[in-house]
Amino acid sequence: MNMTGIRKKITVKDLQKMKEMGFRIPTSTAYDAITARIAEAAGVVLLLVGDSAGNTVLGYDNTLPVTLEESLMLTAAVRRGAKKAMVIGDMPFMSYQLSPEQALANAGRYLKEAGADGVKLEGGRIMNPTIKRLVNAGIPVFGHIGLLPQSVLKDGGYRLHGKSSEEAEQLIDDALAVQEAGAFAVVLEGVPAELSKVITQKLTIPTIGIGAGPYTDGQIQVAPDILGLTEKGHTPRHAKRFGEIGEKMFEAFDDYCRLVQDQQFPGPENYK
Ligand code: KIV
Repeated sequence: MNMTGIRKKITVKDLQKMKEMGFRIPTSTAYDAITARIAEAAGVVLLLVGDSAGNTVLGYDNTLPVTLEESLMLTAAVRRGAKKAMVIGDMPFMSYQLSPEQALANAGRYLKEAGADGVKLEGGRIMNPTIKRLVNAGIPVFGHIGLLPQSVLKDGGYRLHGKSSEEAEQLIDDALAVQEAGAFAVVLEGVPAELSKVITQKLTIPTIGIGAGPYTDGQIQVAPDILGLTEKGHTPRHAKRFGEIGEKMFEAFDDYCRLVQDQQFPGPENYK
């Protein structure tokens, strides 16, 4: 199956079919309408408006300061850019942890106000009742287990999860709990490849990996990392720079500045 130029609106059922057919699900973050339009045209079937917006487009040190209003605004922009790809809003820190009721009220806003197709939230077994509450209300939920960026302070940094056999067992239980609660798919972040393989085989829902090796049903990457917008030398090991868009932007801005200073822009073709 070649998804370039997605022809129809992608649904949770399509993702399920992709897993069953062994089609690797290309997923990416996006935070704006332009990137969403281009990614969708290239065949990205699921766009996550990640709270990684915090470290990337919003310029914070980590994801913790991202607010619900910021996330809703970015999600609405991505929705306007992508008509067919699934658009999932990533619930920020403290917008769902207080109670299933808090999660429900805030998750509903992604669908009603931002036009999202669902929401993502971090956590395994502990989030089982919350995921159930959302799914029972008709909200598609994308789970997220393993390395949880919203718990970076508690965990003392970003590290691989599931290296010991005890942690591996816990992660398997987390994955099963997220599936049992009704999530349509689950992100496996920072998990050893062999463990991701075991989890992917055990689950009937798709697994989408980042820093989790090649065996998951799909891959997700933070768009600025793969586009080459992240500073060189700061690309995470799990990412590959598929382009050098940052360099191209620099060259374009540099040319622009020079032509403005030399009074060569605007030229006769640019005005009446
Ligand atoms: O916020 C994000 O971009 C994410 C993905 C890396 C899974 O959670």
